[in-house]
Amino acid sequence: METRENISLKGLNTFQVDAAAEAYIRFDAEDEILDFLADGHLDARRYLVLGGGSNLLFLGDFHGVVLHPAMKGISVVGCEPDHIRVKAMAGEAWDDLVAFAVGRGWGGIENLSLIPGCVGASVIQNIGAYGVEVRTAVERVEAISLADGRRAAFTPAECDFGYRCSRFKDERHGRFMITAVVFRLCRRPTCVIRYPGVQEAVAHIGAPTVGNLRRAIIQIRESKLPDPVVIPNAGSFFKNPVVTGAALDRVRSVAPDVPSYPLGGGRFKLPAGWLIEQCGWKGRTHGHAAVHRDHALVLVNNGNATGQEIYDLSERIRQSVSSWFGLTLEREVVVVRS
Ligand code: EPU
Repeated sequence: METRENISLKGLNTFQVDAAAEAYIRFDAEDEILDFLADGHLDARRYLVLGGGSNLLFLGDFHGVVLHPAMKGISVVGCEPDHIRVKAMAGEAWDDLVAFAVGRGWGGIENLSLIPGCVGASVIQNIGAYGVEVRTAVERVEAISLADGRRAAFTPAECDFGYRCSRFKDERHGRFMITAVVFRLCRRPTCVIRYPGVQEAVAHIGAPTVGNLRRAIIQIRESKLPDPVVIPNAGSFFKNPVVTGAALDRVRSVAPDVPSYPLGGGRFKLPAGWLIEQCGWKGRTHGHAAVHRDHALVLVNNGNATGQEIYDLSERIRQSVSSWFGLTLEREVVVVRS
């Protein structure tokens, strides 16, 4: 366990916003969290649980304590003819877990290759990419209640997974610190390659194995999305709006060629990146913040942007999309207020 007072969070969020926190505590073992809570250190204090910091925007200094579950470890906890159970601690880098699974030929999470962040946050967000969401591979989420310091475990149904959300993202369900996730992976995997461009990219590499699929996904991501280490960003800033057929018709009346993906039940997903690009935002800047030149869904920090600048840019984009298309963009990134 490490405790620091008055620290800069710049290296702890992938936007590299230079916000400060009153205190920062890193936990390297579950017992440290239990002892910390039992000693009443959190009582009446404002706090924030921070994972890889890859889906957060600090609007200013954080007046509270930042809790960082950094427990590491990946282990096999069960084996059946067709499936294998792998437990990963919350602080493991997400992509290290994907590499661990793919390296052994186990399938289920290879489409989620190269997503930044850690294992704990992967379920909070229900990360998704190229036709797969993490929920399909989750068997159990282990957590500690920050209200009473008790251990808890959740089945996938109890996690309330939705598009980039879960019960853990919604504070009305209580506040939990995720400590570990048990995944159920396939020993005889079938690859999911239906997302546009994925099949072609895999075929270019070789047979549709989990290893080749991981290579293809990494190539696609690297060609489209900026590396947060080089250009600070938090991936998709907004969610893709999900609309009814009637709303889609209204968008088509101003933009007949809008792409749309049917979700069933008369609902359609529209690509927010496309909508933002149509409004002329691709590559535009606002102070030190900008819309990435290759992907309009990604906002970037061109150096020394404040959280407020990035937020203001996102508000202007929302206003454009609302007035052009009558759609309200919802932020995927969690905005942390002072
Ligand atoms: N598009 C444009 N202009 C742009 C960007 C995209 O026209 O500037 C179009 C593309 O041509 C494509 C469509 O929008 O037809 C979708 O683009 P893309 O395949 O890049 O996916 P996305 O909808 O922008 C989502 C996820 C990503 C995930 C990819 C691949 C959300 C909010 N984002 O992005 O997830 O990697 O699909 O599955 O659902 C993240 O959540 O941080 C993230 C990166």
